Amino acid sequence: MTKNFYVTTPIYYVNGDPHVGSAYTTIAADVIARYKKTMGYDVYFLTGTDEHGQKVEETAKAKGMTPQQWTDSMAPRFMEMWKKLNIKNDDFIRTTEERHKKAVAKILKTVWEKGDIYKGEYEGKYCVSCETFVPENQVVNGNCCPDCGKELRMVKEESYFFRMSKYQDALLKHIDEHPDFILPRSRRNEVISFIKQGLQDLSISRNTFEWGIPIEFAPGHITYVWFDALTNYITAVGYENNAEEFAKRWTNGEVVHLLGKDIVRFHAIIWPCMLLSAGVKLPDKIVAHGWWTSEGEKMSKSKGNVVAPLEEVAKYGLDAFRYYLLREVTFGNDGDYSTKGVITRINSDLANDLGNLLNRTLGMYKKYFGDEIVKGGVYEEIDNEIKTLFTETLASVDDAMSRLEFSRALEFIWKFISRMNKYIDETMPWILVKDESKKERLATVMNMLVESLYKIAVLVSPYMPESAQKIWNQLGFNEDIEKALIENVRNWDIIPAGHKLGEATPIFPRIEVQKEVKEKNPVNKDLKIENPISIDEFGKVDIRVVELLEADRVKGSDKLLKFKVNDGKNIRQIVSGIAKYYPNPEELVGKKVLAVVNLNPVTLMGELSQGMLLSSEEKKRIKLVEIDSSVKVGSKIK
Ligand code: MSP
Repeated sequence: MTKNFYVTTPIYYVNGDPHVGSAYTTIAADVIARYKKTMGYDVYFLTGTDEHGQKVEETAKAKGMTPQQWTDSMAPRFMEMWKKLNIKNDDFIRTTEERHKKAVAKILKTVWEKGDIYKGEYEGKYCVSCETFVPENQVVNGNCCPDCGKELRMVKEESYFFRMSKYQDALLKHIDEHPDFILPRSRRNEVISFIKQGLQDLSISRNTFEWGIPIEFAPGHITYVWFDALTNYITAVGYENNAEEFAKRWTNGEVVHLLGKDIVRFHAIIWPCMLLSAGVKLPDKIVAHGWWTSEGEKMSKSKGNVVAPLEEVAKYGLDAFRYYLLREVTFGNDGDYSTKGVITRINSDLANDLGNLLNRTLGMYKKYFGDEIVKGGVYEEIDNEIKTLFTETLASVDDAMSRLEFSRALEFIWKFISRMNKYIDETMPWILVKDESKKERLATVMNMLVESLYKIAVLVSPYMPESAQKIWNQLGFNEDIEKALIENVRNWDIIPAGHKLGEATPIFPRIEVQKEVKEKNPVNKDLKIENPISIDEFGKVDIRVVELLEADRVKGSDKLLKFKVNDGKNIRQIVSGIAKYYPNPEELVGKKVLAVVNLNPVTLMGELSQGMLLSSEEKKRIKLVEIDSSVKVGSKIK
């Protein structure tokens, strides 16, 4: 039986062009959709645009257009961007479409008939930018929104309310019974504690502007834009007009919403309450990702540091951009987009690890055997180890992907890639080739390599579809990799003798770090040196790499820690005033750090100190300067 998988992105506001934030969610959704296809699922992937509300009405007015003209001009920009990012969505929903208006009318009617909507008056603060009502106790800086910081407006108008409070207990129970309903766990806890503070009924209609979906039972009112927008997820799978499709995709399928951490409450509270009231199944997973900063700073148009997806793609290539976004940070955490980070990933993971494996394999194969696969058949223990690791990799990747842990899944794939590079070093085909009696063993080794690349291509294809296809082509497979199934690459020995390899060319060229960084970081030639010293003066300080052997608190002091350290020649004791920053000093044991070893010994709180550990200080946070474990103890710092 095919399994159904339905994944959505938030529908984006059309007040500006798509940027790295919207690209991130959309690429993540594309990756999970493609991955589930390789697992044999019947997948449906939806994205779209959120086109109603006060913000859009006002932006359109400022541009001298009607809201419809404005949204008509903006929606295609999203569609085009997704095409350029190789996003394979099955549908693109615009909330101004008829099908959506009908679905919103249906859910409103159902909730109304259930007795869950009543008329009242809303009086309070509203953030137009976030399209959200802000209770008085959450207002910041006098009159500003706690989320976006923008000025709030006072709203006083007749409004219809949705009895959200009625569903508080049912929602808590659902969250409790479904541990993966809200991911990651940190967000789940945040939602639970928010609900426990008590859910308020929600104002779901506005009557002081016009750009929205009219409400049948409330003349003069339009639907609150979030009530309207959230409904898009069911509109697109036939809630209003196709019961069969709806049963397949929503009721009986796995439903996953991806979104940013800023809009978790709308998705994990308002939306489930709406569905509970309407008698519709709740989604299976609501997965929130973190926010990107740019080179360490919040992105903003005024700073001019907003990461524009297509500019990055032009610089580094589409697949490298997709890979970086999903590999660099754990989905759920915040991340920093940096030129140095992108280049490091490309050079180390793509050019070095994956690129080299492909180049070395094809280069050797062609040199030793020509373009055609030759039968091998002489297996050794190491080959079994590789096969077992591959089976484990598939299981680990699937486990990670089931919780949308993209970077973890990639780590598992790369562990396998690294193992195959090591396999080359261990089997040493260049030695085997010199011995005629090892010819069959050589063929076996080379076939293991070709086949591992064939499998790796399928595993990386959701992230890097074009590069994966290129790998297949170079291996001589011209089938569409988008149709590949993990099931078909699970077993080994699937490439027949006589199969013809393709042309080999590097897929991921290395990027010159120097050039990129030089352009971004011009040297300040007018730099003023503060408190200058001569090189001889610096030379007097003897700084060494030392290893921390023991770490304990100094009795009677809450500031001091004492360490036994190995400086390469002697074991000495060093006392350091860093107890506050290391509540569990034993965790430091085994670390390599820097110490000044030619200071006069002193006694502190009765303890002898024969040197000083070097630490960094940032915003009153002290941290020992740790040294890479490969550096030898006793090395002098010059
Ligand atoms: N229209 C609503 C969603 C309605 S869904 C029923 C909306 N739109 S949005 O365009 O403002 O934001 C869409 C998504 O972009 C959010 O998930 C948000 O988290 C994400 N991002 C916006 N800036 C971001 C970063 N700097 N980094 C990561 N994602 C961020 O909200």
